[in-house]
Amino acid sequence: MVDYYTGKVCLVTGANSGIGYAISEELLKRGATVYMAGRSREKVAEAVARLSAYGDRARPLVMDVTKQEQVQKGIEDTAAEAGRLDFLFNNAGVGGTIPFEMATLDDWKAIIDTNIWSVVYGVHAAVPIMLKQGFGHVVNTSSIAGIVPPPFQALYSLTKYGVTGLTECLKYEYAEKGLYFSTICPANIATPIFNKGIDGQARGELRIPDDAYPADKAASLILDRVAEHRGIIVVPEEPYTDLWKGYILGTPEVEERLSQMARERREAFEKGGTYF
Ligand SMILES: NC(=O)c1ccc[n+]([C@@H]2O[C@H](COP(=O)([O-])OP(=O)(O)OC[C@H]3O[C@@H](n4cnc5c(N)ncnc54)[C@H](OP(=O)(O)O)[C@@H]3O)[C@@H](O)[C@H]2O)c1
Repeated sequence: MVDYYTGKVCLVTGANSGIGYAISEELLKRGATVYMAGRSREKVAEAVARLSAYGDRARPLVMDVTKQEQVQKGIEDTAAEAGRLDFLFNNAGVGGTIPFEMATLDDWKAIIDTNIWSVVYGVHAAVPIMLKQGFGHVVNTSSIAGIVPPPFQALYSLTKYGVTGLTECLKYEYAEKGLYFSTICPANIATPIFNKGIDGQARGELRIPDDAYPADKAASLILDRVAEHRGIIVVPEEPYTDLWKGYILGTPEVEERLSQMARERREAFEKGGTYF
């Protein structure tokens, strides 16, 4: 049976690590051609080399997603070289868990540049190409923090709510034009993000939470749901879909859970806890 992704041309940002790498590998397994984008030429080359079993279907693309000209050129060059652009995965991003009062305006600017402007640049470049060809699917990575607000993640949550809002609006706006939009909302996926700061640089030892969901399983679930043209895709689906519904409904359980998280994080920071 031919897979939904066979022969499709995909561009994945942040493809050298974590969820982006796992999505790239899963797309390749399912028969797609993948332009694996990252800001470091060396890291991208290394990631593509790890996937050499897929031959020239894994292709390197160097672009810093905070630079509009680089994103525009990367997307336009991809579509020109491949003759089409079926999927854009705007996945690159940074985390940030920090008390609001500790955040500098430079922190706000840095996280907004990486998590919001990157996605704006991506859709700005891809939508005209997709409209012209009459098809295309943009998959933007938000977060569970883009549908439920975790305390001490105000910076991160602002950026991810932005991504969710943008993607959901476009989903309805272009539904009649043959374009699809999906919002990925991961929660605790086992990737290197857990010891990185807002600047994307690793600090200290990597401490992935014990209950983190494997990145390869997350990628497989994401691609299954994207193929179904789902809008908001929560990964893993449970218990986080229940958390999301409970938050929207204002259930006492979820209110208490978020309040408890705030108390624990405040205590951890007051004991000299981590910045990220
Ligand atoms: N893991 C989770 O639990 C989780 C939960 C919710 C949402 N997410 C979201 O999932 C996405 C992927 O995160 P991940 O967990 O896979 O983390 P990750 O392993 O740290 O991967 C992040 C990727 O983004 C790239 N990146 C960062 N800034 C960039 C820039 N300016 N230009 C180009 N690439 C840049 C990184 O490149 P470098 O290697 O060069 O830094 C890396 O390839 C992010 O948007 C994140 O917010 C993750």
